Amino acid sequence: MNNKTIDTNKYFESFLSKQSNMETLRFITCGSVDDGKSTLLGRMLFEANAIYEDELAKIKTHKFIDFSLFFDGLRAEREQSITIDVAYRYFMTDKRKFVVADSPGHEQYTRNMFTASTTADVAIILIDGRYGITDQTKRHTIICSIVGIKNIVLAINKMDLIKYSKKKYLTILKSYIEFAKNLNFKEIYSIPISALKGCNIIKSSKNTEWFKGKCLLEYLEDINLNINSTKSFLRFPIQFVNRPHQDFRGYSGSIESGELFVGQKVKIPPLQKTLKITEIITYDGKLKKAKKGDAVTIRLNEDVDVTRGRVIVDDRDKINTADHFQANIMWMDEKPGFVGRSYFLKIGTTLLNANITKIKHKINIDNLEKLSASKLIFNNIYVVSIKLNKETICDKFFDYPETGSFILIDKESYNTVGGGMINFVLHRSSNLFKQKFKITDKDRSVLNGHEAKVIWFTGLSGSGKSTIANELEKKLYSKGIRTFILDGDNVRHGLNSDIGFTDADRIENIRRVSEVAKLMFDAGLVVIVSFISPFRSERDMARKLFKRNQFFEVFVDTPLEIAEKRDPKGLYKKARRGLIPNFTGIDSPYQNPINPEIIIDTTTKNPKECCEIIEKKIFKNSTLIES
Ligand code: ADX
Repeated sequence: MNNKTIDTNKYFESFLSKQSNMETLRFITCGSVDDGKSTLLGRMLFEANAIYEDELAKIKTHKFIDFSLFFDGLRAEREQSITIDVAYRYFMTDKRKFVVADSPGHEQYTRNMFTASTTADVAIILIDGRYGITDQTKRHTIICSIVGIKNIVLAINKMDLIKYSKKKYLTILKSYIEFAKNLNFKEIYSIPISALKGCNIIKSSKNTEWFKGKCLLEYLEDINLNINSTKSFLRFPIQFVNRPHQDFRGYSGSIESGELFVGQKVKIPPLQKTLKITEIITYDGKLKKAKKGDAVTIRLNEDVDVTRGRVIVDDRDKINTADHFQANIMWMDEKPGFVGRSYFLKIGTTLLNANITKIKHKINIDNLEKLSASKLIFNNIYVVSIKLNKETICDKFFDYPETGSFILIDKESYNTVGGGMINFVLHRSSNLFKQKFKITDKDRSVLNGHEAKVIWFTGLSGSGKSTIANELEKKLYSKGIRTFILDGDNVRHGLNSDIGFTDADRIENIRRVSEVAKLMFDAGLVVIVSFISPFRSERDMARKLFKRNQFFEVFVDTPLEIAEKRDPKGLYKKARRGLIPNFTGIDSPYQNPINPEIIIDTTTKNPKECCEIIEKKIFKNSTLIES
């Protein structure tokens, strides 16, 4: 081989090995629509030689390159394909590999920014030097803090448009530092830039000679990634108990934080037993050690019976398990969030059921002042209490960002609706114990001569719920069945007299009546519930308190025109005149049941006939002992 020519194989080998040894820095750029995000990203990729020829051709005019078009092009493609989420772009310099997450800057896409930020090591907060800090800057900064980003680069952009003014730059910097001082960042590094002119992106600019720090790319190349890992304690959630045959039991999942090694003493709370790791198995063979991010199956010195969702931790770790905690939460859905409504809550890979039990206050993002709030509104930040359906490891966010943060997911749409960080656990329920009594459900049903049931009527006001409920109770009573009617109007005179008709109030109304129905059910009664109960989520929540064949949803399907024509209490007339706000069917929604046990058409059947349908369906196969 001629020794002047390059041995391409060797060249690529050395290139690839150099590349695989390089650390990857993941970063996100946060900015509003016109802050110059596209231009900055385009400029960085260009300077790092990471724009392909064909891409360059698209954004190059004969005089200059319009970097703003570069990411806008990607964005337009994304917007056409319906899901507007996060685009990732990879590039590399001599020192480091980079992954940059780009999410739309618009306010309605804050959720996407949240998703993008969850995997980032560093966030570049971009500010238009002419306008300074905006609400969106504050929101993005708080999100960065919620997801545990420790390093912020404050890129004060468009310096060319403010005459490279040091004074203006320092004023913005000062107010940002004041705003972010309690958000627990490790470093806020600020740079005056002009993405358009390439100032301080890769080369220092003569126009900002007063700035002595590193340029943006240099800073990103040099930043020490280890300062991001706070205390890295082992958190290994079991995603799957692997039992291919009798003699093998492995626990599989991805390590969320810390490391594990063969011989390590571990435990699986709430089990207090000390166990030992005997094997770490991966797709590519066995390991002695594994770290954060690795997908592994481990074996223990003893087979323990634990389920998916439990978390393996180091034996010496002092663990907080709880089912109730206080958290800061950012609401990211256009539909508001309510106290009492049930959501999925995901901590790491663990999925649980959760209820917001209290909104303590809203945080005013301008001055972090506390404001009162009755529901969670899009793009706002709140302090709330959250209750889980079972105990889990609840780490404080500031100790363990990976396992101290969570997302809330809507149960119908599966949208991520909130993201939050745990402040501290609430021990309110940990000192309460369930008492076991000697008289069982069975004893009660033998004494009563029938099983307990819940018959839940839902439908518009004036649909006929109460009339049918009354008819049904008379019939059951005549057969010696112990019943009780919980009626919306009646319960609102007593237990729920503090409750009105806003969405939040109706949710609380149904939560309370569900609990009362459960108590009456436990007492052995056939409980007839007659509430408008307009929302699917809350009817489903009520259903979940019972087992199959214990709860029957009866949809009294009377169309609005007919209910309004009947208008037994004259309320529709008043509502139409604007005298009753939030009236169901007029200016407050009613969500039809999707899969009720029984649908009643009151336009073709009279109350007696309706009762017969219900009775036949519910009591047909039951162990009802008729008198
Ligand atoms: S629910 O929506 O929260 O389930 P609930 O069944 O308790 O309602 O109460 C409904 C009854 O309250 C209606 O039958 C009607 O008599 C009365 N009412 C008063 N204001 C309203 C309103 N704004 N919307 C619906 N019903 C109302």
